[in-house]
Amino acid sequence: MLKHFTFDSVILGGGGAGLTTAIQLAQEGQDVAVISKVFPTRSHTVAAQGGIAAALANVSDDKWLWHMYDTVKGSDYLGDQDAIEYMCKNAAEAIYDLEHMGMPFDRNEDGRIYQRPFGGMTKNFGESSISRTCAVADRTGHAMLHTLYQKNIELKTKFFIEWIGLDLIRDKDGAVLGIVALELKSGDLAIFHTKNTIFATGGAGRIFQASTNAYINTGDGLGMAARANIALQDMEFWQFHPTGILNVGVLITEGVRGEGGYLVNSNGERFMSKYAPKAKDLASRDVISRAIATEVKEGRGIGQNKDGVFLTLSHLGESLINEKLPGIRETAIKFANVDPINDPIPVVPTVHYMMGGIPTNLDGQVRDTANNSIVDGLYAVGECACVSVHGANRLGSNSLLDLVVFGRAAGLSIIKNSKNKKLKPLPKNSEEFTLNRLERLEQNSDGENPKEVGDELRKIMQDHCGVFRFPELLEKGLSKIQLIRKKTDNLEIKDKSKIFNTARAEALELSNLIEVAEATMNAAFARLESRGAHSRYDFPKRDDQNWLKHSLYNPMEKTMSFRSVNLKPLTVESFPLKERVY
Ligand code: FUM
Repeated sequence: MLKHFTFDSVILGGGGAGLTTAIQLAQEGQDVAVISKVFPTRSHTVAAQGGIAAALANVSDDKWLWHMYDTVKGSDYLGDQDAIEYMCKNAAEAIYDLEHMGMPFDRNEDGRIYQRPFGGMTKNFGESSISRTCAVADRTGHAMLHTLYQKNIELKTKFFIEWIGLDLIRDKDGAVLGIVALELKSGDLAIFHTKNTIFATGGAGRIFQASTNAYINTGDGLGMAARANIALQDMEFWQFHPTGILNVGVLITEGVRGEGGYLVNSNGERFMSKYAPKAKDLASRDVISRAIATEVKEGRGIGQNKDGVFLTLSHLGESLINEKLPGIRETAIKFANVDPINDPIPVVPTVHYMMGGIPTNLDGQVRDTANNSIVDGLYAVGECACVSVHGANRLGSNSLLDLVVFGRAAGLSIIKNSKNKKLKPLPKNSEEFTLNRLERLEQNSDGENPKEVGDELRKIMQDHCGVFRFPELLEKGLSKIQLIRKKTDNLEIKDKSKIFNTARAEALELSNLIEVAEATMNAAFARLESRGAHSRYDFPKRDDQNWLKHSLYNPMEKTMSFRSVNLKPLTVESFPLKERVY
């Protein structure tokens, strides 16, 4: 017997985006449920280190229009300029909202919020770098997540903790009426029936072997969307963060370079001046990751296998490191066995962020791309969504901003649209699709081992879809992923118990990872140009004539289609296409 819950709004995901939307809705008196795979303050937002961008001008002059310019340029012109304007214009208010909720930002001498430089963030349309990233030492996401969670507790949001979302419920007209979810503790299934379903399920960096992402980042919302025949947008664009710890993957914040740290190769050279003469170590992440990969390829790497570079910060001095970068000092000691007060940290570009996702409009409503309309009742916010502000490459510290600005926008639009909205009846047998899926998994006695298949999937993505993308590798990768798809349709779990069965959870997560991996491979194979984080060896240049388009992966037919980028901002002049140099 399935449990049955009814709420005004159901949010799947307890990270920064989901909790922000929940606050908006609960404040207006909605009955809101947040369903989270982990305790909300363990969501991946907690891992965000360096900060959140906003043109507050607390250190020097700044303007939201400069932030907008940097973001458009950073996106390699694939970001929609209306969405980018909305985000940058609303950034300062979002920061002050967080401040008023109690977020303990670091302070300048004069008491105003501390801001540090970050990659690609500039003054006066590229003139020089600027301090725009508001920070809580190097634990900004941690502070933000706790602030948002506490506010939700005050507002009496209902939390369903350690529940996994499995499938969307849609009626015959395609409207979304809720989800089917599984409680880990009991192994029971439940239907969450609602007027508004909001996906805030975060990223999917666990499709790669080496990733800064938490193990929970398995693309659950994307998998659920794909199984419900919702297209995924711009999935070829994956950000490699330049400074993951070599052979470990744990993140070392860009804030290190913001505070004055720099990269060196095995000859002790500060090589970034060759690749980005002006911005150097504060160029955008795609540029720096390619520079590191090139240094390694040309034999100037460090480490046993000469496959990384050094991040040097000892010159910053013990007191700055302890005050502004205490978390990365601890991380470097634990995971790289070096104390950065004395020695450089070995680093390598590591998968960090998914620029693509479930396509939405500025209100967070999911686009029905086949019919050029919206999917009634379904919203997506945060990393699982593609609104699209990051285009082909996200600037560091724009992610936390995206969470709160568009998390709030979705909440506001739900409230506006909820006035006359009635709860639609559930279709008959809403749970049938999920029950069949689970039944196959339970009954299979001659299937594949989920752990082994997951490892194979991650290795294929790592080997075939890296910082530089080669046509033969992509082609082979695509056919290998198609074989993995067959295996994921034939999984077997040995442990059939109900209570806290993590083997079942892992198998169910794998059914989401495969959707994301397949979308990524298809999109990367299809885009015949280099733009932002998608760097094709056979098409090394950006091609605006043919490829200034968002890609859409249609999961049922497994085909690609494309739609135009919105170059028209809301109120200001558009930023014209230019060659992107730092
Ligand atoms: O480097 C960092 O602190 C990461 C920030 C981000 O991805 O925005």
